[in-house]
Amino acid sequence: MAPQSFFILLVLFLHSFSSTISAQSPAAAPAPSATNVTAVLEKAGQFTTLIKLLKSTKMADQINTQLSTSNQGMTLFAPTDNAFSSLKAGTLNSISEQQKLQLVQFHVLPSFYSAAQFQTVSNPLHTQAGNTDDGQFPLNVTTSGNQVNITTGVVNAAVANTIFTDSQLAVYQVDQVLLPLSIFGTPAPAPAPSKPETKIKGADSPSGSSDSGSTAEASSAMGVEQHGIAAAASVGVVAILAAFFL
Ligand SMILES: *[C@@H]1O[C@H](CO)[C@@H](O)[C@H](O)[C@H]1NC(C)=O
Ligand SMILES: *[C@@H]1O[C@H](CO)[C@@H](O)[C@H](O)[C@H]1NC(C)=O
Ligand SMILES: *[C@@H]1O[C@H](CO)[C@@H](O)[C@H](O)[C@H]1NC(C)=O
Repeated sequence: MAPQSFFILLVLFLHSFSSTISAQSPAAAPAPSATNVTAVLEKAGQFTTLIKLLKSTKMADQINTQLSTSNQGMTLFAPTDNAFSSLKAGTLNSISEQQKLQLVQFHVLPSFYSAAQFQTVSNPLHTQAGNTDDGQFPLNVTTSGNQVNITTGVVNAAVANTIFTDSQLAVYQVDQVLLPLSIFGTPAPAPAPSKPETKIKGADSPSGSSDSGSTAEASSAMGVEQHGIAAAASVGVVAILAAFFL
């Protein structure tokens, strides 16, 4: 390359370099850094299992996105590595990917709660896992003095510590994994038995139980038939719901 053209290139290069710098310098002031839940947990230490789950279920990204797009804030209950390792062996491996996601979502409240607010919240609290109905994902806060506990119907966990709080995100350490009722509780009544006639309620229930029994439990053959119809209807509802959600 001729020295002259090299010089021209050098001048052009330096020119564009310096103009880039001068164009950027006004914006160089540090942007307000968005809260990053993974970074918060990494900094706190002892949350490697939770971090792994937050990443594998993409909940970390979702929490960060919600933090930057909504002003409701978020609350995360963070079980320690100890909490995970004291679960019954194989607990995490025995559940599906969908249930893992629900488990993680169950630890996330879609609004900001300060520690003081736990004293006055009304139960059950709404989690990202959804439905708080009995047998689903109820999460209750109980307090006794300054001690805050979480009950799920499966576990009663103590809130040990505030790991992090700003006006948007609150992260509380919990000493147990919050196991939701719908995954770890006693199984819900079997949906829609395929052969209702094999389960004749009248055979084993006392005849005078009409007061406490539901219609499906009436001891007559009619009761059995109604049971079958109710079962068929609930299959239909489940199918409609499934079609709706898929
Ligand atoms: C959040 O922090 C983690 C760990 O420090 C990092 O790997 C990740 O890239 C960060 N995410 C964002 C969106 O900055
Ligand atoms: C949670 O609280 C509600 C309202 O007080 C109550 O009906 C429900 O049984 C509680 N559930 C659990 C799992 O503690
Ligand atoms: C809170 O939970 C811990 C177990 O994690 C238990 O020992 C304690 O009795 C509970 N406290 C209340 C008020 O339920």
